[in-house]
Amino acid sequence: MGMSHGYGPPADKKEMISLIRSAVERGVTLFDTAEIYGPFSNEELVGEALSPLRGQVFIATKFWVNYNAGRETSAEQPSRANQKIHRRFAQTFANRFHRPLLSTSRRSAVPIEDVAGTIKDLIREGKIKHWGLSEAGVKTIRRAHAVQPLTAVESEYSLWWRRPEEELIPTLEELGIGLVPFSPLGKGFLTGSITKDSKFGKSDFRSIVRDLTPKHLQQIRLWWIYLKKRPEQKNAASAQIALAWLLAQKPWIVPIPGTTKLNRLEEILEQQM
Ligand SMILES: NC(=O)c1ccc[n+]([C@@H]2O[C@H](COP(=O)([O-])OP(=O)(O)OC[C@H]3O[C@@H](n4cnc5c(N)ncnc54)[C@H](OP(=O)(O)O)[C@@H]3O)[C@@H](O)[C@H]2O)c1
Repeated sequence: MGMSHGYGPPADKKEMISLIRSAVERGVTLFDTAEIYGPFSNEELVGEALSPLRGQVFIATKFWVNYNAGRETSAEQPSRANQKIHRRFAQTFANRFHRPLLSTSRRSAVPIEDVAGTIKDLIREGKIKHWGLSEAGVKTIRRAHAVQPLTAVESEYSLWWRRPEEELIPTLEELGIGLVPFSPLGKGFLTGSITKDSKFGKSDFRSIVRDLTPKHLQQIRLWWIYLKKRPEQKNAASAQIALAWLLAQKPWIVPIPGTTKLNRLEEILEQQM
C-alpha cells in the first residue's frame, strides 16, 4: 500500500518493481494490495512486478470500498452488488493477477450472504482460489463463513492495537480461519524510526492521526528503549520485535509489513526466517 497510497507521494515505480522482485528472491510469497490503493495503481504495480513470477506467489487484493477522487463514499447498492463483483473480478483476473485471493472490505448495505454466494460461484468455476474479509466483525464473519468458508480475515493487530484479542481471534480459532494482521509495525510507530519531531506531509495519512501528540510519541519511544534493554531483545531492531511478537501469538497469524526500502525489507525478513 505504502508504495502508492497513504504514506506520502507514490514511490518511483521502477524502484518498487525491483523491490517487489527482490522480496520474492528473498522468499516472500504473499503480497497484499487493494483496488482503493491508488486507486488501481498499486494493483497494477504489483501485477507488473509479479507477472514474470506466476506460480511462485500469492496475491491478495481487496475490493468493495467505494471511492470518489480517492476518498471513501457511501455503501454499495444491493441491486448492483452481484454485477459489480463479477465485473470487478473479470478486470482483476484479466489484466492483473494470477491466483488472486479476494477480500471484501467493511461497510456495505449488501447482505454478506449475497457476497459470499457470488464468491462461491466464482470459486466453483475455478476462477479464484480463496476469499477473506477485511475489518469485519465476528457476526459478519460467521454469516459469511456459513455460506462459503473463509480462508483469512485481515485486521489491524499489533503490539499497540490489541482489540482483536477480545472477540476476533477466539472466533477465528474456533472456525479455523487465518488472521492477516495489517499495519503490524503500527504504521511505522513501532519501529523506533518516528520521533516526537517527525513531520508528515499532507498525503501521509499519519498527519491526521487524532490524539497522537508529541507526548504520545515520546512515550512510545521511551517504551521501546525500555523493551530493548531486555537481554534477549537488545540486539533486535524494533521492527523485528514487533513482528516476532505477532508471530509468537498463533501459528496461523501471517503479518503483512510494508516498506519501500530494501534495507528495511532485509531487516524484517532476517527476523522472520
Ligand atoms: N485492510 C486494510 O484496511 C489495511 C489497512 C492498512 C494497511 N493494510 C495492508 O497492510 C500492509 C502493511 O501496513 P502499513 O504499511 O499500513 O503499516 P506497517 O507495515 O505497520 O508500517 C509501515 C511503515 O513502517 C515503515 N517501516 C517498515 N519497515 C521498517 C523498518 N524495518 N524500520 C523502520 N521503519 C520501517 C515503513 O516506512 P518505509 O516505507 O519508509 O520503510 C512504513 O512507514 C499495507 O501494505 C497494506 O497492504 C491493509
